Amino acid sequence: MNNENTALAQDERLRSFEEYVGEGKAIEPRDWMPEGYRSHLIRQISQHAHSEVIGMQPEGNWITRAPSIRAKQILLAKIQDEGGHGLYLYSAAETLGISREEMLEQLQTGKAKYSNIFNYPSLTWADIGAIGWLVDGAAIVNQVSLQRTSYGPYSRAMVRICKEESFHQRQGYEIMANMMKGTPEQREMAQDAMNRWWWPSLMMFGPHDGDSPHSADAFRWKIKRHSNDELRQKFIDKTVQQAEVIGLTIPDADLKWNEETGHYDHGEINWDEFYRVIKGNGPLNKQRIAHHIKAHEEGAWVREAAQAYKQKQAQKYN
Ligand code: 3HC
Repeated sequence: MNNENTALAQDERLRSFEEYVGEGKAIEPRDWMPEGYRSHLIRQISQHAHSEVIGMQPEGNWITRAPSIRAKQILLAKIQDEGGHGLYLYSAAETLGISREEMLEQLQTGKAKYSNIFNYPSLTWADIGAIGWLVDGAAIVNQVSLQRTSYGPYSRAMVRICKEESFHQRQGYEIMANMMKGTPEQREMAQDAMNRWWWPSLMMFGPHDGDSPHSADAFRWKIKRHSNDELRQKFIDKTVQQAEVIGLTIPDADLKWNEETGHYDHGEINWDEFYRVIKGNGPLNKQRIAHHIKAHEEGAWVREAAQAYKQKQAQKYN
C-alpha cells in the first residue's frame, strides 16, 4: 500500500471505531483502537489504580488506634478492598500493553498522578469517618458513571468496585453519625473533619469542564459519560442532605438551594490549592511516595518468591 492508501485505511478504521463506540458498544483488548484512546486509558486507569493504593495510607494510619475491635475489623476489611481495587485496575491497564513495573515506576518518579485527596493527613478518628463518607462517596459518584465507560475491562472492574465502595461510604457515614450522637468533643471532632475534607473532596472530580484538557477526547470515545462538573454537582446535592440529617454543617457560606435549577449553588473551589497538590506540593505528597517506595522495596522478596514458584510450576508442567 502506498502512503495515501495507508492514510485512507487509517481514517476508515478510526471512523468505524468511533461509530462502534458511538453505538455504546464495548472495546476489548484485542480490538483495534487509536493510539490516543490507548494512551488516554493507560493514563486514567493507572492513575485510578495508584489512587486506590496510595489511599490505603491515610486509613492505615488508624488501624492500631481504631476505637473498638468491630471498628478495627471493618477498617482492615475496607483497606484490603482498596488494595484489591488497585489490583483489578492495574490488570485492566496491563491489557492495554503497559507493564505493572512501568506503572509503578511512573508513580514513584512523579510522572503519573494519583488523586489529590490522599495528600492530606488523617488527624483524628473522625477523619476515617470523613474519608469513608465523603471520599468514597465522591469516588462512587464518579465510578458509577464509569461502569458504562467504553473499554470493557475498565467498565467490568468498575461494576465490582462500586459494590464494595457503597459499603465503604456507609462505614464512614456510620462513624460520623455515631460521633454526632456523642459528647460535645466528639461532635466538634466530626465537624472539624468535615471542614477539612469537604473542599478537597469536591476537587476529586477534577477541574471545571472548560479547564479540563482531556474531556473532549473522553466524551468523543465514550470514556466519560458525565462531565467533571455534572458529577461534582450530583455529589453535592446528595451529600448536603446526608449532612443535615446528622447535624453537620457544610463549610461553604455560599451553599444554597436553587429552586430554578433544582440543585445547590456552591462557593468556588480553591484551584490554586488543587494544582499545587496535584503537582506534588500538597501537605503529604512526599511522605506518601516515600512510604510507597519503602513498602515496595521491603516487598521485593515476596515478588521474587512468587516468580520462583511460577518458574518451578512451569518446569513441572512443561
Ligand atoms: N487528583 C489528581 N489529579 C487530577 C484530579 C484529581 N482529583 N482531577 C484531575 N486531575 C488531573 C488529571 O489527571 C489531568 O492531569 P494529567 O494530564 O497529568 O493526567 C489534569 O488534572 C486535567 O484533568 P482532566 O479533567 O482533563 O482529566 P480527566 O479527563 O482524566 O478527568 C478524572 C479527571 C475525573 C479524575 C478522571 O481521570 C477519572 O474519572 N478518573 C477515574 C477515577 C479516579 O481516578 N478516581 C480516583 C479517586 S479515589 C478512589 O477511587 C479510591 C477510593 O477508594 C476512594
